[in-house]
Amino acid sequence: NLPNRVKIVEVGPRDGLQNESIPVSARDKVTLIEKLAQAGVSYIESGSFVSPKWVPQMATSSEVFQTVNRNASVTYAALTPNMKGFEAAMAVNADEVAIFGAASESFSQKNINCSIDESLERFQPIMAAANKAGIKVRGYVSCVLGCPYEGDISAEQVADVAEKLFKMGCYEISLGDTIGVGNPASVTEMIRAVSARVPREKLAVHFHDTYGQALTNIYAALQAGISVVDSAIAGLGGCPYAKGASGNVATEDVVYLLNGLNIETGIDFDLLLEAGWLISEKLKKPPVSKVSNAYFAK
Ligand code: HMG
Ligand code: MG
Repeated sequence: NLPNRVKIVEVGPRDGLQNESIPVSARDKVTLIEKLAQAGVSYIESGSFVSPKWVPQMATSSEVFQTVNRNASVTYAALTPNMKGFEAAMAVNADEVAIFGAASESFSQKNINCSIDESLERFQPIMAAANKAGIKVRGYVSCVLGCPYEGDISAEQVADVAEKLFKMGCYEISLGDTIGVGNPASVTEMIRAVSARVPREKLAVHFHDTYGQALTNIYAALQAGISVVDSAIAGLGGCPYAKGASGNVATEDVVYLLNGLNIETGIDFDLLLEAGWLISEKLKKPPVSKVSNAYFAK
């Protein structure tokens, strides 16, 4: 029972680039975002408003949002951990914001320097201000299938945090396998637990491909009724606070899979491949996408 259509949430310009060590100029980020929009990607997480000391690559996010040529049918979203970040995102007209919590206490401390409960408190004023401004808020839960510091994380703990974010007003909860340790069995079990508390149609999956399981995990998630998938062009990135974490699953690979399953995404595959090569050239490495490399070799 697969969905007819899947929404791709492109996180490459944010989750991808935040962990690339070569600095990418605001101009190059803008070119990437514009190429993705031309390829028909309708949701692009384009930057984050976090401390530049914590994530230097995102320091140019204001400039990126200010200069990108916007397509009216595309949502340009930003990650915001606190009110300072939210205000910065509003100052440059981000269409939507995302708050990010975790199902692991240790990861929450390392990533945003506070406990899970404290993070939820910090998100309250963002929700209130976003509500007032008519801005939608997406919620992330990290470490849904394991934590780099604590190991196993229970599905109930994930469900608990997801439900809190949802009740707080997030319109969608993205379930992040930050370190890519999941498998179809753990994915299915986690989605079962979370969807008992948050409607399935309000859930998204966010897989990093560290252990090479992301595509198969996406297939398991589709079978479990999920129809929103986060991915990063060229498989960019990782997470600066999860050692050894590799990039997100490559958008090219996900779209190839979905095309094969006859599931609509609205994305032009050839233009998508071009966008991936474009940013990869800037990073001086080939895309981390088997599909993209296979097409290139043809
Ligand atoms: P803190 O040190 O506790 O914050 O950091 P603070 O309020 O004490 O402020 C310290 C300094 O940061 C001050 O500057 C603030 O002005 C500044 P100073 O006086 O020292 O010069 N500051 C800010 N600057 C810019 N924008 C802001 C901001 N807030 C404070 N918004 C904080 C707390 C949350 C700020 C910090 O921990 C942080 O920036 N963390 C972000 C970490 C991050 O971006 N991680 C990656 C994204 S999450 C992820 O990748 C996972 C995900 O993909 C899902 C998955 O895969 O699991 C979403
Ligand atoms: Mg991530």
